[in-house]
Amino acid sequence: MKVMSVFGTRPEAIKMAPIIKELEKRKINQVVCVTAQHRQMLDQVLDLFKIEPDYDLNIFKQGQTLTDITINALKGLEEVLEKESPDILLIQGDTTTVFAGALAAFYKKIKIGHIEAGLRSYNIYSPYPEEANRKLTGVLTNYHFAPTDSNKKNLLREGYEEKNIFITGNTVIDALKYTVKEDYVFSADKLKNIDFEKKKVILLTSHRRENIGEKMENIFRGIKRAVEEVNDAIVVFPVHLNPKVREIANRVFDGNEDIYLIEPLEYESFTNLMAKSFIVITDSGGLQEEAPALGKPVLVIRDETERPEGIEAGTARLVGTKEENVYINLKRLLTDNREYLKMAKAVNPYGDGNASKRIVDILVDKLSK
Ligand code: UD1
Ligand code: UDP
Repeated sequence: MKVMSVFGTRPEAIKMAPIIKELEKRKINQVVCVTAQHRQMLDQVLDLFKIEPDYDLNIFKQGQTLTDITINALKGLEEVLEKESPDILLIQGDTTTVFAGALAAFYKKIKIGHIEAGLRSYNIYSPYPEEANRKLTGVLTNYHFAPTDSNKKNLLREGYEEKNIFITGNTVIDALKYTVKEDYVFSADKLKNIDFEKKKVILLTSHRRENIGEKMENIFRGIKRAVEEVNDAIVVFPVHLNPKVREIANRVFDGNEDIYLIEPLEYESFTNLMAKSFIVITDSGGLQEEAPALGKPVLVIRDETERPEGIEAGTARLVGTKEENVYINLKRLLTDNREYLKMAKAVNPYGDGNASKRIVDILVDKLSK
């Protein structure tokens, strides 16, 4: 049995790493291929998990369009699949690398295993283009690895056969278990010097394409207003490398000493920072899964989410993208302890940290027959 995985961005690498490690542990023949849709942000994860890809398509270029990513990944993967001819191609999530990977495998009639299948917002433009990527990938997939029961129900509603859908949990929880440590010490001075007892640390990340522009500006203004009105909060914002995000962050947050704009953190520092933070504010998919597991209230700065489980559990709140809503919700969490405690409870709708073991068990069962 030969298993090939393809991924290209930071979150895919984080969530694929536990599966690669599990395959390694069981000495299963595997090939790892990265498209490198991301470059630095991908390499940070590869270094941490000590993954050396067999193939690196190195497609990243500044200002890449969705078409660039699709075409270059598809073209590069054609050659690799031709050469390796794996029994199955594993892809993870909803990026353009995922869709291109599924299409490339389909063209070669290679089986596809889709990790993190079945998440839906039911708005094709939000998240954009991820909702479409995930649906398009689903159509081409043989084995759907759904993190939760509600993800499975989405797939069943769309007519996928139950025998091909497996509830596994999300491998991000596996990765989180690998990195978060009680006694973790930061290496960067900026983080080392934060007094987490005295300061309410707000961990912020934002990068969604559909928020870039006015929405992102308004969100940042709402956060800035709330922070300026209290005296014990700071914001730590590891800013995504997208220049459009960086421009808005620099402009709106300019001159505020309580708002730290820092470079993207490697995963271990990042998750340990989250574990010590007071609140998480994000439009990221992965953070909506990690923060509930760590008992951190999450304000989701999006108009829709394909991850309703955290919201249903009460740890996450969808606050939209309007300045006033972001401001009111953040100010309340910073000043109303009862409200804070209602949200700050560790719940884990996304799995028990054994998703990668389950996925590999299923692969062995299906492919070694
Ligand atoms: C991509 C995914 C998104 C995922 C996100 C995780 C698509 C369409 N989007 O969005 O689903 O949530 O990754 O972060 O697949 N850049 C660098 N170096 C890097 C990475 C990015 O400089 O290592 C900059 C470049 O200027 C690049 C821009 O960020 O043009 C955007 O990168 P891209 O991969 O196109 O989209 P993301 O917004 O990162
Ligand atoms: N992350 C990281 N360093 C950072 C910011 C995020 O390692 O500076 C991790 C985070 O823990 C999560 C993942 O990257 O697992 C989320 O990636 P991103 O927000 O880029 O993508 P999304 O989850 O929205 O697809």
